[in-house]
Amino acid sequence: MPEIRRAACVESENSMPVPFADLQLQYQTLKGAIDEAIASVIRESSFIRGRHVDQFEQEFAAVAEIRHCVSCANGTDAIWLAIKALGLRPGDEILTTAHSWISTSAMITHAGGTVVFCDTDGVTFTISPAAIESAITPRTVGIIPVHLYGQPADMDAIMTIANKHKLWVIEDCAQAHLARYRDRPIGSFGQAASYSFYPGKNLGAMGDAGAVVTNDAHLAERMTMLARHGGLLKHQHEIEGVNSRLDGLQAAILSAKLPHLRAWTVARQEAAKFYDTGLNQIRDVTIPQIKPDRSHVYHLYTICHPARDELARYLNAKGVQTGINYPTALPFLPAYSRYRHRPEQFPNAYADQGRILSLPMFAEIRREQQEEVIRHIREF
Ligand SMILES: Cc1ncc(COP(=O)(O)O)c(C=O)c1O
Repeated sequence: MPEIRRAACVESENSMPVPFADLQLQYQTLKGAIDEAIASVIRESSFIRGRHVDQFEQEFAAVAEIRHCVSCANGTDAIWLAIKALGLRPGDEILTTAHSWISTSAMITHAGGTVVFCDTDGVTFTISPAAIESAITPRTVGIIPVHLYGQPADMDAIMTIANKHKLWVIEDCAQAHLARYRDRPIGSFGQAASYSFYPGKNLGAMGDAGAVVTNDAHLAERMTMLARHGGLLKHQHEIEGVNSRLDGLQAAILSAKLPHLRAWTVARQEAAKFYDTGLNQIRDVTIPQIKPDRSHVYHLYTICHPARDELARYLNAKGVQTGINYPTALPFLPAYSRYRHRPEQFPNAYADQGRILSLPMFAEIRREQQEEVIRHIREF
């Protein structure tokens, strides 16, 4: 799995193994619907485009409370499509968070922009509006906040800055399906928003899949053209595009899963509450901090601990799988060595990379499994 550094799980005696996520369990609970969805695509040979893709785009737009959904091959392409459709000139700078999966920043470069990182806020793991404000230059054209782990970034503050400086905003919603900010759906604040349906995401396909959404019809058309070889009709290539398609099989699987997304989200939120209660009093453990007016959908339940590596090794030895999302904040990756970033430029992201630990989290997680995780953390 790309975004998670995961240690192999060693089951010890007298302990219940707790996986980080359990995709097989989810499949078993929906086996009938998923098998039928796959069979119908094969029966109809609707492998590329076709009714399953159209249907999923409409259904997802309705669930995301947005007018247009343009499906594509993955959440990485979704970011690229949005940036490309908005258009860049050489030298244009785009601000994004210092702590995310690399797709967010790499697509800025691939679309022809210059990446400018902003530190996180030190509380929610999302981009700091104050850092955005101080990174703006005459070349800045846009901001890409990431609703990391499932908690919305501070969209009021970000949109105020964007409007003041006439910048566009693309929300990276890869980890935050159904999250809300002041009771408004994420993905509806900026000009466009990207989603990933990577298998482990809150809504996951059985392979790569993604979408970009917008309320702007013109932008939707432009992103559709870019994703479909530069044209809306066969053999009419208005521009040079790419091939970034959601395939029929993935669309049908996603439509089979979509009706369950709300219940899965509530189940994740309840599991998070259970962890909160069990972990809150344990010395050295910092549980996720949620700002008022933000709903967290817990793609990941990420704690902080000063002895993170030792804790991860200990849990692993007890059969509890954990993840680190992400062990190196973006500015410090070799991919960005050309910028010669220093830790003091991004103190929050730098500190977080050494103390964050994601615990097992999935909609079907049982309370006994969570009790086991909590017990081992307490004993550690
Ligand atoms: C924050 C974030 N952005 C973008 C992506 C890219 O999505 P995908 O893996 O579907 O390309 C991911 C997925 O890992 C992600 O977590």
